[in-house]
Amino acid sequence: MSVRFVRTILVLLAIVHNSRALVDEVVDVLKLGKEIGEEIIASWNVVGKTLNVSEGVELPLIRRRERLILAKLSHISQSIDRLELGIEKAGAVALFLAKNGGRGTRFELKLHDMTVLLNKVAAVDRQMRVYVGLQEELERSTLLGFAQSCVFYEPDALPGVLEQIHAHIVPPHKLLLGKGLLQQIVEEVQEGGTDVCTLQMSPHQLIYDIYNTIALAEIKGYAIMQFSWMLLKLYGKGNFSQEASLTRERYGQRTTQAANVVRGVLSSASRDLYRCDPIQHEEGKTYDQVTRLLQGYIENEVDMNPQGTCQENCGYYTLTQRYGCYDDQLCTQQKTCGGRIINCQYIDSDMWVCPSGDSKRRYDWVTYENGRTLGQKGECTSGGHSTKVDSWWKWNLFHCSYCFCLCEDAVDISERFFSMREALAQISKNKVVTGLRLIKHGRVFHLQVYESTLKERGLIEGGDWVPVQKFDPLDPQFKDGVDYHTLTYENRAIDLDDLDSPSGHVLTGVRFRMLGAHLHFEIRSTPFNYTTGRLSPEKSQWISNDNTEGSARPRVKLELKNPDIPTRSSVPLAVDSEHDQYVEFTNSDLEADAAQSTVPFIDVQPVLPAGVGALASGAGVLHRGARGSGGFVALRLRTYPHARHVRAEPPADLPRGPDPADGPDFEPTVN
Ligand SMILES: *[C@@H]1O[C@H](CO)[C@@H](O)[C@H](O)[C@H]1NC(C)=O
Ligand SMILES: *[C@@H]1O[C@H](CO)[C@@H](O)[C@H](O)[C@H]1NC(C)=O
Ligand SMILES: *[C@@H]1O[C@H](CO)[C@@H](O)[C@H](O)[C@H]1NC(C)=O
Repeated sequence: MSVRFVRTILVLLAIVHNSRALVDEVVDVLKLGKEIGEEIIASWNVVGKTLNVSEGVELPLIRRRERLILAKLSHISQSIDRLELGIEKAGAVALFLAKNGGRGTRFELKLHDMTVLLNKVAAVDRQMRVYVGLQEELERSTLLGFAQSCVFYEPDALPGVLEQIHAHIVPPHKLLLGKGLLQQIVEEVQEGGTDVCTLQMSPHQLIYDIYNTIALAEIKGYAIMQFSWMLLKLYGKGNFSQEASLTRERYGQRTTQAANVVRGVLSSASRDLYRCDPIQHEEGKTYDQVTRLLQGYIENEVDMNPQGTCQENCGYYTLTQRYGCYDDQLCTQQKTCGGRIINCQYIDSDMWVCPSGDSKRRYDWVTYENGRTLGQKGECTSGGHSTKVDSWWKWNLFHCSYCFCLCEDAVDISERFFSMREALAQISKNKVVTGLRLIKHGRVFHLQVYESTLKERGLIEGGDWVPVQKFDPLDPQFKDGVDYHTLTYENRAIDLDDLDSPSGHVLTGVRFRMLGAHLHFEIRSTPFNYTTGRLSPEKSQWISNDNTEGSARPRVKLELKNPDIPTRSSVPLAVDSEHDQYVEFTNSDLEADAAQSTVPFIDVQPVLPAGVGALASGAGVLHRGARGSGGFVALRLRTYPHARHVRAEPPADLPRGPDPADGPDFEPTVN
């Protein structure tokens, strides 16, 4: 990745951010374009009345019209400003794109070029604002000069700049110059792999954002050029009706073509959004764990049957419990398994056991005399000294072996509950879900939604996390299978699905329910009127993929191979699950971790587009992982498909025809 490329991207993004054309504002850009088109027509009506220059014009009349025009221009500038005052966006976009090296200098150059061009429009716009602000003090020749410079057809003048910007979006000769810039950006972003997470915007959102910026530049340019023609006409430099009409026509063509291209690019751009590895894993902040679902546990055979005998072998004990503590051995020195003991195996007779200081683990490591080590062997200091544990012979007849088993511990000391409460936005207050996360409260994992108010034309406003309904699963008024699900040896699967709403619907809630033995994710979907932004709460529906393992096309299990705890992974954990899969919570790998942890871990980072939320239509559960890692279960969000609402609003025809040469001089006709 070249430094130059990074700089280019950063500058381009600075423009995007300065113009603050936010994702959901493109519709507002549309609206603004329309309003400005009308304003321009009204202004032409002011100028329209011909001044007979050869006759010598009354100065006050020109002055008055000039002021009216500048006032209108100033009004337009304010509308543009208002649009530009969006929400401050996080620097995540820049960070991501900076990370994402350029694919070739051609692409870098194009981005750089676009940056320069957008800067030129911004410079002209700034200049105009200064002049409009100073109009009383300026010489007319200054304004005149400015107006002339804005309409002259030189490569560096405004018309040429707008054409060049347009040529990046809609390449004039497709076959010669290749793909448009937006398409290239999509390809860069989607091929980068880790992009979506660092970006915290879906590629769809990013394109929408950049398109906003460009559409806004186009509107600014159009307004400035039209007002320049007006001033030139006003100052008696000519008629310019024809020129103004051409400017309008060309603007109409460009915006229509750009809208067509953007619609195409948007429909191919991914709307997927999820989190990747944080810079630093932090328990409680970036991840949390299910605990004591299945945990490596050493127990002597003598304590695993009610008779206290050693007549079997370890493999015999596939499902049992602890019945006693014979002769004050290891069983007095370690935390007892208070639940079921599962799948025991014999590894070796004698061993060293290092107890752990971490309350979630029993052992840091175990080393057998045959040399096999479970877990990462080191100094044993965190939980006391390592203990020598030897199997023994009973009456020189039976070998009382220490077995390595799994303990499904008592529910009151384990943390393996998932809330099945619905997490909804306040639909009655016209709020929708614009962000999501998994969060652990007490010993229960909850889904939590971020809600914002839905406004007209797909805009959203404000946002806050909806408080989760906390409860204690051990309180008898809350029921397993109704209020929450307890993971057990038999019921420990979670479905991995990627869900989306039907067209014209938005995301208004999420929940877990049980589908067979699986924890199953569902989304709530509510139709809305795009024009008004009104939700129709009564037409809400729950949507899910109810496929199971037992169907004709069974749901596929995602296998975890030798899963170590994910925070130790040396490689980035990328999404490795697909729609219609499931994964089982299980013990971590024996060799890597002495089976002490429950994997996958739960990613609790918020999925909140650009840090402020975005209109969404879908959500899902995914797994991020790699070979040798238990990975994370995480949420994903699907941002709203804007493509079908992107359209050009071609400006209405400018007033034409014979203009009345006299009469009261101002009678705007707005149609
Ligand atoms: C301008 O005024 C002069 C003198 O009154 C007149 O001869 C000429 O026809 C006028 N031109 C137009 C275009 O009205
Ligand atoms: C959306 O609301 C507008 C304004 O009330 C109405 O004219 C339009 O028909 C509505 N659209 C739909 C699809 O209901
Ligand atoms: C200006 O040009 C338009 C279109 O060419 C024409 O209709 C109009 O009469 C002209 N006005 C003057 C005063 O020449």
